[in-house]
Amino acid sequence: MGVIVVNTKAYKEGMGENLVELSRIMEKIGEKYEVRMILAVQPSDIRLVSQLNIDVFSQHVDAIEYGSHTGWISPYAVKLAGAVGTLINHSEHRMKVEDIAKAVEISKKIGLETIICAGTSEISKAVACFSPDYVAVEPPELIGGDISVTKAQPEIVKNAVDSVHSINKNVKVLCGAGIKNGNDVSKAIELGAEGILVASGVVKVKERKKIIEEMAKAMVK
Ligand code: G3P
Repeated sequence: MGVIVVNTKAYKEGMGENLVELSRIMEKIGEKYEVRMILAVQPSDIRLVSQLNIDVFSQHVDAIEYGSHTGWISPYAVKLAGAVGTLINHSEHRMKVEDIAKAVEISKKIGLETIICAGTSEISKAVACFSPDYVAVEPPELIGGDISVTKAQPEIVKNAVDSVHSINKNVKVLCGAGIKNGNDVSKAIELGAEGILVASGVVKVKERKKIIEEMAKAMVK
């Protein structure tokens, strides 16, 4: 099943009522096209949308167990709040290798799915060794821009798919950065990705419903 992961980052358009509206749109379109919709939100917003028929991920967790860790994001707390998974090592919140490994280990132990982000195909290959559910390859310089990774650097997606699968065939690969429309999604699938990780191209546009529907359609074509 194709996957669309929408990361709301800290965008105003991805908080509060705007977030609820976005999640309802994703819920309906996901059901209609049988595409898995994942919404990666601020940890403080998890509870707001976790009751809907959509998979809510945290945008980050720290590699911490229960205990005295003031101000850190506990994997246990995001799970209790209703998250079913988490992003790890997003380019805007990078982690040390040992923390990536530990965050994945704790997440697995408590049944949180993991998407590890990586900026290059080499890093994608390296983090595949931790056996996350997904690796998302996103060249940092294209994030938030107008040119999709699938146009600017299609080879990075292809190489990430090949190298991740050379380590572990069960790890699915997503791609992201600059994804804006159905064509970008079709290309991602053509390059071997299981789905996409997108933020501004969905969260910050006026016609969210139209764009999400276009992306979902392209995914099942
Ligand atoms: O997590 C997704 C993100 O980094 C890509 O952002 O705005 O280029 O879709 P954007």
